[in-house]
Amino acid sequence: GLLVIEKEPVTVLVTGAAGQIGYALLPMIARGVMLGPDQPVIIHMLDIEPAAEALNGVKMELIDAAFPLLKDVVATTDVVEACQGVNIAVMVGGFPRKEGMERKDVMSKNVSIYKAQASALEQHAAPDCKVLVVANPANTNALILKEFAPSIPEKNITCLTRLDHNRALGQISEKLNVHVSDVWNVIIWGNHSSTQYPDINHATVKTTNGEKSVRDAIANDNWLNTEFITTVQQRGATIIKARKLSSALSAASAACDHIRDWVLGTPKGTWVSMGVYSDGSYGIQPGIMYSFPVTCEKGQWSIVNGLKIDELSREKMDATAKELMDEKTLAYSCLIDD
Ligand code: NAD
Ligand code: LMR
Repeated sequence: GLLVIEKEPVTVLVTGAAGQIGYALLPMIARGVMLGPDQPVIIHMLDIEPAAEALNGVKMELIDAAFPLLKDVVATTDVVEACQGVNIAVMVGGFPRKEGMERKDVMSKNVSIYKAQASALEQHAAPDCKVLVVANPANTNALILKEFAPSIPEKNITCLTRLDHNRALGQISEKLNVHVSDVWNVIIWGNHSSTQYPDINHATVKTTNGEKSVRDAIANDNWLNTEFITTVQQRGATIIKARKLSSALSAASAACDHIRDWVLGTPKGTWVSMGVYSDGSYGIQPGIMYSFPVTCEKGQWSIVNGLKIDELSREKMDATAKELMDEKTLAYSCLIDD
């Protein structure tokens, strides 16, 4: 018969695996949506003791789904066991925002979790482990994880703003009545919060006879500079209001997009948004996790440099940076209190 050489499995950790995003994300990972249809996976699931029984139920369902790519499943409440040999860590564990809560309210609950899990990852994960923080406040949790896991290369620690990026693509495609895959190169700058700046000044749309800038195609600067921006900024809150739960399937899908593009690369000529440790690009001070446009190749991201920034953009980029500096201060004060 035909000799098929199977790839070595990749071990993926999902924390908060008994939660809503976990429930949407785990089958995507096991079906190859995150790492490709020929990439076997081992899934490690972590949650806390009160969720242990539910977590075990999710494990049973993963077994019952008979996924061809899924080589093993570990369900545990032990963070050391969960982190053992992990190649990709998707950090979803934490407390989500409920209707009426500001993101700052979730801060103190979550940053101490990220401090503790940083050490476990540092000590037990594979040395080249790639980390994606999803749990809010995502940028600041990722920053805390980075600061308390100094031996993990800082380029390996990222946070999710791909959901916001995809939301921006979705709004533009709805407005232009084109398919979402015919719009590219939007940018999310800054924080995964209502101060984020969704920027379409470099975005392009495919037309019947070529390409056009999104600004020209929409030809409505007023909508682009106001309603579009606030719709994307507020989308998380709008979903919470509608579902009484925060977004889950779109968040899970975005997490897969983020890891897939990071590991397998972004298509030529296009970029995506990722929350990464600022290197000072675009005048954004180092010391915060900030969403930038990035391209990825051979498992490494790089910030897209040299884009022209107009005055309105500059203001909005600085405002979201300022919020991240404030969140950082607040996070450290929460850590001192605990
Ligand atoms: P959820 O409450 O349904 O699930 C969270 C899970 O985390 C729960 O099962 C909980 O038991 C578990 N958990 C709590 N503390 C933990 C710990 N110390 N270790 C491991 N697990 C722990 O919440 P959800 O709707 O799945 O959302 C998860 C997180 O993702 C929230 O913080 C939410 O705000 C955030 N979120 C981020 C984005 C984004 O785009 N970055 C989008 C949507 C949601
Ligand atoms: C989202 O963007 O859907 C989540 O981060 C929910 C929130 O708290 O805004």
